[in-house]
Amino acid sequence: QGKYAVTLIPGDAFTGIGPEISHAVKAIYAAAEVPIEWEEVSVTPVLKGGKTVIPDAAITSVKRNTVALKGPLATPIGKGHVSLNLTLRRTFNLFANVRPCVSIKGFKTAYDDVNTVLIRENTEGEYSGIEHEIVDGVVQSIKLITWQASERVARYAFHYAQANGRRRVTAVHKANIMKMSDGMFLAACREVSGDFPNIAYDEDLLDRVCLQVCQNPRPYADRVMVMPNLYGDILSDMCAGLIGGLGLTPSGNIGRDASIFEAVHGSAPDIAEFGANPIRKIGKGLANPTALLLSSLMMLRHMNLNTYAERIEKAALSTIAEGKTITGDLGGKATTKEFTDAIVKRLHAQ
Ligand code: IPM
Ligand code: MN
Repeated sequence: QGKYAVTLIPGDAFTGIGPEISHAVKAIYAAAEVPIEWEEVSVTPVLKGGKTVIPDAAITSVKRNTVALKGPLATPIGKGHVSLNLTLRRTFNLFANVRPCVSIKGFKTAYDDVNTVLIRENTEGEYSGIEHEIVDGVVQSIKLITWQASERVARYAFHYAQANGRRRVTAVHKANIMKMSDGMFLAACREVSGDFPNIAYDEDLLDRVCLQVCQNPRPYADRVMVMPNLYGDILSDMCAGLIGGLGLTPSGNIGRDASIFEAVHGSAPDIAEFGANPIRKIGKGLANPTALLLSSLMMLRHMNLNTYAERIEKAALSTIAEGKTITGDLGGKATTKEFTDAIVKRLHAQ
């Protein structure tokens, strides 16, 4: 049987947990005999003509394979290089960022039945990176919204709802304030909704959604929420908080020609191993690989390898539900390797 080549971007090499959580995913995939050949590439920023760019080898690999799994890459705050995460999204025109948020059994939070999906426009809005200082003390950051990108992400959201048995699409906005940009985003969603008579459609204000989801996430269980870029960034973290944080939430950046699946959490330099032996790939063993693993399962489903996804998901979720061999962030004492081994053991026992 042939194998599918998939690009693996482990994440920041020496300062983050990317390599160790990637290692965990690889071990689990080997145990499940997933027909995937990992093509590992580094995405350490390279300086080219004063600009930080992604190494050509990484770009070529993603282009060729069209599917990639990516660990965390740190994004500096304020001055510093442009976010490589954004550069990847932009380079491959990954227009829809899909962030499911589903309660994990065994990890107790205020609600045990969160089950919603956020779809975030992923190429423009406040992330366009158009900023300038007009005069001293006055800065302008442009929020760019186009009909084309709004329509495209709206259509993706409706297709997603249809394919995944969700009955409603809610467009989340602040068109009471951003009358023109969000107003147009809504108009695009509304137009697309006409093509999907079987899916209910409504619109709601971002601030109200934040309040309601926190107070009672249940009404959001059968739907998909679609929204402009920055709103999706913020609301997806808030929803992640409802199920236990970014260590448990997967994410996929979908494009026409390529898709990159990634953990949304940061590179966690505080718990990563660096210094003593930078070549050593395995760190302190504190990192939880669940978010990257669940992202990779979105990737498998995207590749129509559902059976493998289901097997691994069952093994991982039951390991967490059992609660005996879980990492510190989940309230356990296991190292990354012990947690990984527990999942592998369950896979073998299945
Ligand atoms: C995310 C992250 C990124 C974003 C950062 C790292 C650039 O927070 O994927 O949500 O703001 O989109
Ligand atoms: Mn974010």
